[in-house]
Order: sequence, then structure tokens, then C-alpha cells
Amino acid sequence: MPSLCKPWRDAWVESAYGVAGHWQNSWPAQHFRTAATSTSALAAMIMATLSSRPDLRAVVELGAGDGALLTAIHQANPELSLYGVELRERPVGLDAAISWCRDLWDVRTDTWTSGEAAQALSSSDGPTALLAVEWLDDLPCVVAERREDLDLLEVHVDCHGAERLGRPLGLEESQWTTRWWPYGSRVEVGLGRDRAWADAVRRLRRCGGLALMIDYGHRRPARPVDGSLSGYARGRQLVPVPDKSMNLTAHVAVDAVRDAGEQAGGRTVVLAQLVELVATTAPATTPDPLAALVQRSQRAALSSPRVWGQQYWLQQEVPRSDGERA
Ligand SMILES: C[S@@+](CC[C@H](N)C(=O)[O-])C[C@H]1O[C@@H](n2cnc3c(N)ncnc32)[C@H](O)[C@@H]1O
Repeated sequence: MPSLCKPWRDAWVESAYGVAGHWQNSWPAQHFRTAATSTSALAAMIMATLSSRPDLRAVVELGAGDGALLTAIHQANPELSLYGVELRERPVGLDAAISWCRDLWDVRTDTWTSGEAAQALSSSDGPTALLAVEWLDDLPCVVAERREDLDLLEVHVDCHGAERLGRPLGLEESQWTTRWWPYGSRVEVGLGRDRAWADAVRRLRRCGGLALMIDYGHRRPARPVDGSLSGYARGRQLVPVPDKSMNLTAHVAVDAVRDAGEQAGGRTVVLAQLVELVATTAPATTPDPLAALVQRSQRAALSSPRVWGQQYWLQQEVPRSDGERA
């Protein structure tokens, strides 16, 4: 008997967030390394960005994982109020100074589920930094295939990963692909990621500050023509199957996210690949030869397209909206 097929986004939502879904029982470090927690060089770049805004009072990290980045920020600047937003419970042993907000961004309704994230994003009494590091690429998205007549049909998948084509894309999704992904045989519709980012930037306007996204991505001139949906389990890249054993991810259309942030009131300061950014920043100097060697190898990893270099850095200033309290 054929297995039940459902739209990729629904199958991905279930395998990631459902009862006994991937994120209920897995920690990121069990399946893959992330740049922010594996290299102190990226954490140092984030820290330098935060230090360039001495008026910052708080940092909110969406998809904070095991809290490693917030822990490093706390050690560097204990004055900042820190909030980790995560669908999972507070990590054991996390410094008590770091607040933990358990919340899930629901990609089917484009809202936070418990309200704790929304509260953290808009409750600070001063300028706040929003961080989303390797978060947006984990948000399930609609997957579509472009036929020769240029129609886009949603791709459905069964529990073994077998695919078939479903209904034509809805109006908003079609408009998104026309604008942002107009060629290629397979499209990962980034509308939901845009909305997640825009929601966070809009909420941040209450106190103002900056929003920083670091993630695997692509821009319109160089979208992957066959898409980028992948699975990761225990350090290996796998053919994607909507199965709780693997982390599913698809690269982010970063120019569309930039536009969404601007529509929500952000002003783009930087949109660049890490490989481009690292080339323009001077390495930190240290008299310790071993530390210098570690720094050089971490910078090489950040500027290598085969390691972290293909990640993008999107930084937007978020002015406080007129009439809101500081
Ligand atoms: C790839 S990990 C990145 C963790 C950390 N930011 C880092 O760079 O090491 C993505 C994290 O986002 C969380 N996450 C995924 N989807 C989410 C959602 N819809 N709402 C809230 N958190 C989510 C996962 O639980 C996971 O810890």
C-alpha cells in the first residue's frame, strides 16, 4: 500500500516539532556543528558588533540552542540582560543570569506559540540586539517544483522521502517565487522565514536596537537551481526524509529576508557572505603563538566556502518607533 504523502512543509513540521519530533529529544551539537559555537572567531565578530553599540541593554537570541553563545556574551559583558528563546527546555547548568523563554515559532500561523518570545523582544527598557544564528534555515518551508510550462506545483513527500507533485502554489507563494526565485527546477519558498524575521524586527521597534541574522543562504542571482533541502544526523549530510532522526534544513533567501526586515522598519547596514566579511576585517593580534595559530585557522574556516564561508551576515539597525517608550 502506498504511504501517505503530505506537503513537505507539513511533513517537516511534524518531524521537527511533533510529539517525539526531532527537536524534542535532540540537541544541535548531537547532529552538526554550528559556526557560532564551534569557532570563537565568529563569536568574537558578534561580540565586536554588540560592543559597537554601547547603548545596548539587552540581547535576545532566537533558537538559542544550548545557550553557548549567550554564555560567551555574558562572560564578555555581564551588564547586558540576556534572553534565550527556544522551543526546548532550559539547558541544565545555564547561568542563572540568562533568562530562558520557551517558545515555538509556528510556521503555519506565523506567530509565537507561548508569547514568551514576543514578550522578550519588546519588553526591554532600552536598545536591544536580536540574534538569529542558524535559526531561519531550520524553519520548515513550502517546497515546489517548476514545470516546463513554468507552473509551480507544491511537492508532497511520504515518510520514506518519496515525492509526488501536489496542488499549484497559492497566490502569495507564487508572488514570492516570481519576485525572489524566478528560475530553477525546484524552489524553497522563503515567505515564512521573511515573516518570522519581519515579526521580530517589528517587535524590536518598541525599544530599538539591532537585528543580526547569520545563516546559510543565497541571493537571487545564485539560487540553487535544484534547491538546498538537506538532512543532517550525527554529523552526516543525508537525503532529506521527514523523519525525527534527522535535522532538516534549507538555505535562506537572504535578500528576501533583508527586504522583509526593511519593510518592518529595519535599515540594512551589512548583507555579505562571511567569506567577504572576514576578508575586510583585520585579525586580532596576540603575542601568544599558539593562540595566533588557532585564530588563523578559525579565520581560514570562516573564509572558506567549504566550511562556514558560505554563511551570510545580515545586520539591520532598528530605530525605535516614535511614540514608544525607551
Ligand atoms: C541549528 S540550531 C542553532 C543553535 C544556535 N543558535 C547555534 O548557532 O549554535 C537551531 C535551533 O533553533 C531551534 N528551533 C528550530 N525551530 C524553531 C522554532 N520554530 N521555534 C523556536 N526554536 C526553534 C532548535 O531547537 C535549535 O536549537
